[in-house]
Amino acid sequence: VIWVVYLATFVGTLVKRREPHIYVANWFLLAFIVTIAMLHLGNNLSIPVSFFGAKSYTMWSGVQSAMIQWWYGHNAVGFFLTAGFLGMMYYFIPKRAERPVYSYRLSIVHFWALIFLYIWAGPHHLHYTALPDWSQTLGMTFSIMLWMPSWGGMINGIMTLSGAWEKLRTDPVIRFLVASVAFYGMSTFEGPMMSIKAVNSLSHYTDWTVGHVHSGALGWVAFVSFGAMYYLIPVLWGRKSLYSMRLVSYHFWIATIGIVLYITAMWISGIMQGLMWRAYDDMGFLQYSFIETVEAMHPYYVIRAFGGVLFLTGGLIMAYNMYRTIRGDIREEQPYESPEAVAVGARR
Ligand code: HEM
Ligand code: HEM
Repeated sequence: VIWVVYLATFVGTLVKRREPHIYVANWFLLAFIVTIAMLHLGNNLSIPVSFFGAKSYTMWSGVQSAMIQWWYGHNAVGFFLTAGFLGMMYYFIPKRAERPVYSYRLSIVHFWALIFLYIWAGPHHLHYTALPDWSQTLGMTFSIMLWMPSWGGMINGIMTLSGAWEKLRTDPVIRFLVASVAFYGMSTFEGPMMSIKAVNSLSHYTDWTVGHVHSGALGWVAFVSFGAMYYLIPVLWGRKSLYSMRLVSYHFWIATIGIVLYITAMWISGIMQGLMWRAYDDMGFLQYSFIETVEAMHPYYVIRAFGGVLFLTGGLIMAYNMYRTIRGDIREEQPYESPEAVAVGARR
């Protein structure tokens, strides 16, 4: 019901618009709303057992059920964790950089290519299962093709800054937004690579997948959201600026180090785990017992936990900064905006 209300509000706003053109960010947001509804309905189709009772069984069984669930699952990544956030990227990066999007034509190609290709990529979660081989290969092929529109979007986001690169130095909010797009580029390179069957035979079931998830979740989804919130809070509460730009910068670096620790620990532990599982001794027996792999991963789990603590610390700094911003405070600090001002020791 909430989702339908959301759609109604969104489309209602579009219908009442005074601007004839619908900007591409809204295309992504609409795709996000419509597709998530479609996935939810498709995945939950059920057959009732009796005429009046509430009991029912899912419509799909066996491998078809697995396929439908990953059709749902992968497009949850594509439309929930990607399309909606791409909508945010296309709005907030140009807005904050005060420049038009690098190529509007590319953004349209990005949109259609992305939504067309994503919907087919689900089978890459079911490699080497009972799913027919042809559909695994189909999923793999579409996943590899998906690399292109993803990077098209990344280039579009990053290049929007062309001519204003100094903002990366002077505006930590832009730094969040641009770093998020860089992480998006990284995880959408890693994803197609992991969808190749030979790679997946190593990576599947290991921590490598968890590392991939969090370079997307923390690096892309969380960072673009942080950038957007830092932009929005002063606007919504009518404040002149954020309480402190320095704190934004601390948040940025602490969180970035946290993510890097998290994902590198998972790469090493995941690849090690995969290699240990498949190692045989001279007699053809498995070389390692399961518990030995868990013991070997222990130090990396400690590193991941530390990375997570750093990421959360950054979040707390953000919460404090926002609280003070909403109260209307402005911190006395060296401004980032103009290097000349810094040189003469100007204070805000
Ligand atoms: C071109 C884009 C992408 C492709 C082709 C891709 C591909 C893959 C592959 C092959 C796996 C491993 C499946 C397995 O072995 O079980 C995976 C897992 C996953 N990916 Fe991606 N990925 C992409 C982008 C992203 C992004 C941007 C995010 C997050 C924002 C993301 C989130 C996830 C999640 C949550 C899982 C784990 C699912 C589970 O719980 O098993 N992916 N992806
Ligand atoms: C401080 C931040 C975070 C920490 C420390 C963290 C930690 C973890 C841990 C320990 C797991 C279990 C992995 C395992 O099975 O070994 C996990 C799974 C997962 N997390 Fe996070 N997480 C964080 C933030 C997020 C965010 C912001 C998102 C989404 C936007 C997210 C999405 C996921 C998903 C989809 C899985 C399932 C992965 C899979 O089964 O392959 N996480 N996380």
